[in-house]
This record gives sequence, C-alpha cells and structure tokens, in this order.
Amino acid sequence: MDIDQNQHEPFAVLDRWLAEARAADVPEPESVALVTVGEGRRPSARTVALKRLEDQALVFTSALWTRKAREIEANRHVALLFYWPTIGRQIHITGQASFAERELATELFSQRELSHQVQTLVSRQGEPIADIQALRVRHAQLMGSLQTPPECPPDWGAIRVVPGAVEFWLGAPDRIHDRLLYRRADAGWQLTRLSP
Ligand SMILES: Cc1cc2nc3c(=O)[nH]c(=O)nc-3n(C[C@H](O)[C@H](O)[C@H](O)COP(=O)(O)O)c2cc1C
Repeated sequence: MDIDQNQHEPFAVLDRWLAEARAADVPEPESVALVTVGEGRRPSARTVALKRLEDQALVFTSALWTRKAREIEANRHVALLFYWPTIGRQIHITGQASFAERELATELFSQRELSHQVQTLVSRQGEPIADIQALRVRHAQLMGSLQTPPECPPDWGAIRVVPGAVEFWLGAPDRIHDRLLYRRADAGWQLTRLSP
C-alpha cells in the first residue's frame, strides 16, 4: 500500500494517520520527539505530547522556564518526529515554533489530570534538586489538600509549531518504503515522492 498522492493537504494526512494509529492501539501515538536548536547551535531533543492538531499547526504544552522554551525563544526552527513502530510509520516535520496565546494555555492546563497540574506546581522542571523525596511529599500533600483545581501558572504555556515541511514514511515488508514529502509552496503544498 502506498501513500495516497491525491491528498494535497498534509494536515488531512496527519489527522488520518493519528486516527489510524489510535485505532491500531499504537502506544502513546501523541508522543513526539521535539528537536530544537540548542546552545552553540547544537541539536537538543526531548519527547513531548501532541495536545492538539489545529488547521495549520501542532500544539504541545510546556513550562516556559525550561530549556526547550528558552531554545525556542532564541531560535524558532524546530523538528518534530513521530515514530509508530507497531504500524511501521514515521512523520518528520520541520517548521517554526511560537508561544501560543494565554487563553489556549489556560484551556489546555484545565484539561490536564489533577496530578499533572500539581506536578507542574511542585516541580521546577529542569532545575537541579538535592532530593526527589521532598517533591513526592509535597505532591502528595497538595493532592490531599487542594479543594479546587489549581490555576494555570503564568509561566506555563502552549507552543505552536507551524510546519514548513512534512514527510510521511510508510514502511513496506520488501524495504521499498514509501516516502512522501510536502513542502510549503506559494499556493499550498508541493509534493515530492522520495526514494526510501
Ligand atoms: C512520553 C513523554 C511525554 C512527555 N510530554 C511532555 C510534554 O508534553 N511537555 C513537556 O514539557 N515535557 C514532556 N515530557 C518531558 C520531556 O521529555 C522533558 O524531559 C522535559 O520537558 C524537559 O525538557 P527540556 O529540559 O528540554 O525543556 C514528556 C516525556 C515523555 C517521556
């Protein structure tokens, strides 16, 4: 089976592939490697979770004091890489990241499980700590005592990635994998089939 070249919009393919990954019970299909340009122009990577697929952007959330946020502030160019081994598919996206409006951050924060919200409050992600036990105690205390869900901290937010290129990779048993690259062009997207 090849990737349908009649689809001229990569977001339609992205949306369908995500739905197919969920339907195929791919573990954590929203998990995606986010690569930024780090200090000294060196690559810097970590996994994040896709929170929303918009019309023309992918959205994830993060504390805004973190390394990834600092790196995006300094250089908007990022890459995202989904890999779903159980269905033999990969999606490689390159594009520009930007910090989303506060309303989206608060909306996505309110949708987080309480224990995730509390984790954001008790842990300054990325800062050195002497002892992890103190964080566990503080987390358990807050989980036990909070009467209402916490508000979105001012330095927590949503980050939007607008792709300039999206490459779909579909594995084939004979190793003649199919690769279809969408590159943003003046009017819409330019499609190129690539040799595996
Ligand atoms: C499956 C998985 C999903 C994750 N999702 C997120 C996420 O959505 N946002 C986030 O900030 N960190 C997420 N993390 C943690 C990051 O990988 C990373 O450790 C953290 O954000 C610090 O990265 P930084 O120091 O480069 O900013 C996730 C980790 C894993 C393993």
